[in-house]
Amino acid sequence: MSDPRYNNFTLERIDDDILRVILDVPGKPMNVLNQSVMTELDIIIRRLETDPDQCTVVTFESSKESGFLAGADVSVIQGIETPELAEDLLVAGQRLFARIEALPMFTVAVIHGPCMGGGTELALACDCRVARDNSSTQIGLPEIKLGLIPGWGGTQRLPRLVGTPLAMKMILTGKTLSAQAADRAGLVDRAIKPDDWEVEIAKFLSAVGCGLSVRRPRNRTWTERLLDNRFGRSILFRAARKNIHSKVDHYPALGSALDAIEEGFDPMADGEARERVEFTRLLETPTCRSLLGLFFSRESARKPATWSSVPAEAVHDHPIQRVGVIGGGAMGAGIGVLAAARGFECVVKEVDSGVAPARERVDALIEQRARHKKLSPEKRDDLASRVAVTADSSSLADCDLIVEAVVERMDVKRSVFSECADQRLPQTILASNTSSLSVSEMAAATDCVTHVAGLHFFNPVHRMELVEVVRAEGTSDATIAKLIAFVRALGKTPIVTSDSPGFLVNRVLFPYLGEAIRMAGEGFGIERIDKEIRRFGMPMGPLELLDQVGLDVAHHVAGTLDGTLPEAQPVVQYLERMVNEGHLGVKSGLGFYVHTGKKRVAAFSEVEPPVAEDARGVVRDGMTPIQRRLVYPMLIEAMRCLEERVVEFPWAVDLGMVLGTGFAPHHGGPISMIESIGHIKVLANLRALEEIHGSRFAPPQRLIEIVGRVDHPLTLNKE
Ligand code: NAI
Repeated sequence: MSDPRYNNFTLERIDDDILRVILDVPGKPMNVLNQSVMTELDIIIRRLETDPDQCTVVTFESSKESGFLAGADVSVIQGIETPELAEDLLVAGQRLFARIEALPMFTVAVIHGPCMGGGTELALACDCRVARDNSSTQIGLPEIKLGLIPGWGGTQRLPRLVGTPLAMKMILTGKTLSAQAADRAGLVDRAIKPDDWEVEIAKFLSAVGCGLSVRRPRNRTWTERLLDNRFGRSILFRAARKNIHSKVDHYPALGSALDAIEEGFDPMADGEARERVEFTRLLETPTCRSLLGLFFSRESARKPATWSSVPAEAVHDHPIQRVGVIGGGAMGAGIGVLAAARGFECVVKEVDSGVAPARERVDALIEQRARHKKLSPEKRDDLASRVAVTADSSSLADCDLIVEAVVERMDVKRSVFSECADQRLPQTILASNTSSLSVSEMAAATDCVTHVAGLHFFNPVHRMELVEVVRAEGTSDATIAKLIAFVRALGKTPIVTSDSPGFLVNRVLFPYLGEAIRMAGEGFGIERIDKEIRRFGMPMGPLELLDQVGLDVAHHVAGTLDGTLPEAQPVVQYLERMVNEGHLGVKSGLGFYVHTGKKRVAAFSEVEPPVAEDARGVVRDGMTPIQRRLVYPMLIEAMRCLEERVVEFPWAVDLGMVLGTGFAPHHGGPISMIESIGHIKVLANLRALEEIHGSRFAPPQRLIEIVGRVDHPLTLNKE
């Protein structure tokens, strides 16, 4: 029954019994469910409904090697302008998937690679599912990451298949399952090794065709059995609501997801209708709009054309294959292991005395990765064999990229670069992982400035998604393009910055950390400061963060930013005093907190709760005085970075801060936040803060200009 009318599908018969419905959305790297796919799927399902005898088994699969289905097209979701449109789209999807579920023939989703959102909802509507058991297969419902919930039946079908506790966890966190985990959870009925794929699929389908039972009953624990009834579920939902209580104001989708799942079990309610109502309501929320914005920013950041006009061929000319890392400390070891895990040949060069400790760090990271990714002993050993640690400089001679991660000292970095430049291949790129020093100054120690740039990874390397790619004075476009491709190959998101102190992230972060330090010095409670900022939506407070990073490191970075940030000296001096008194943070057991075992208490008690700020001239912006005093310095610096073109695009400032520091994602980043508060209000508040606290709160020129262009005065609500 091959039908040439389909743009997205091919229909292929295996035999009289089995029909394959194969998806390949043209022009897209990954399959997505857009209007055209849904319309064609609707036609295919109608033909199956009207001619039920044409086959006994239908498979839904993808011919793209990139994976099964990435879900609904997010640009379509972003483009939904009215609640009516949302309702139409949701009803159409829910009905279509209900018809797939009701087909008289046996339906099988054949999954490989990513199977997300709408893709998983399609798979859930099938009678059974098989998945290719390799690392790229991931199955889940990640809508929560966009501030939404699944809208095509996911909140209804998943709990029935895998049980309420796991479904709740998957939907509330957006976490995905590997093929093996999905097999254990009963989400798929077979996880098949890639080597056996064709043979096992054929066996599976022929068993289905013969009417044999292929469904894998889920292994349920006793707790699950106990909780999987009305009474048990009511306990579960109560506990879950308590758990999300502190987050639901910022992330309303958490509450909506629980409501939709719970209503799915209520025989008197319509769970799918609830799913639609909640989805539509969420779409209008600022959180959802911010998270959708960040999604597209991330997509843009990952496109080489965003940052460099160099054609793709230039990147493929001498592609990066062999990577050298100089310095096997915390950062160097992390970069080396990541590069090797992503398929690059890797050598870490250390000083003689550093080889053994660096090898230990590398092995510990590999062990950690093997545990986390459930690598077999062979794969773990293979990975270990692909990261060489040596003191022999000649091992760097044939590297296409050398990343230096030695101590943060200009003289050491310059001499390392100068030595590398002397023995490098013509195409070798030299990159520095410095977090605060001038890359151009390092480049000047070489005769190949076009091939020198910054590659600023964050700590810990394996967990932090952002990498700042620093364009030094002489860096060529081709070098930037190659580094972007390398960062992408590592699975990270790049942002290109200029070579200015602190680049983007540390530059914007430090005024905020500095303000927290001042406030602690003024007698504000340590815990109070951190708590207020966690409430604002940051993953941890500024003083907790300083203790984690190390006050000695913070002192060093603050020193390098001294000339760039206004009124930084008192903060540098405060940090210096703390460091001299042995307050280094977690590593010395003493910082802003005393760290003993798992417990910690504030190292200084609150002198007296000072008034956070005078209410004079301050207008309402949704923040408390403490939050405002801490967050506004980031807003100012974010604008200054745009003024000085540290980063070209406002969205990149936001993305960098969210990925690099965890800046409250529901606000979308500092620049989005200025826009949502309103430029006029932010300006008014900065003037008020400047009067109270001094010139570091002086509004940036760019803000004054933007407000100057707005010709209608706003009425401001005074606090
Ligand atoms: P680290 O002090 O843990 O490691 C530095 C390593 O470099 C040491 O093992 C040392 O033996 C080795 N080394 C020194 N001179 C060398 C040479 N000439 N040849 C080969 N090896 C040499 O430092 P860490 O924390 O790994 O930082 C490295 C770089 O990364 C610094 O520039 C730092 O500013 C930057 N960075 C650090 C972050 C962090 O959180 N630790 C975050 C982002 C960047």
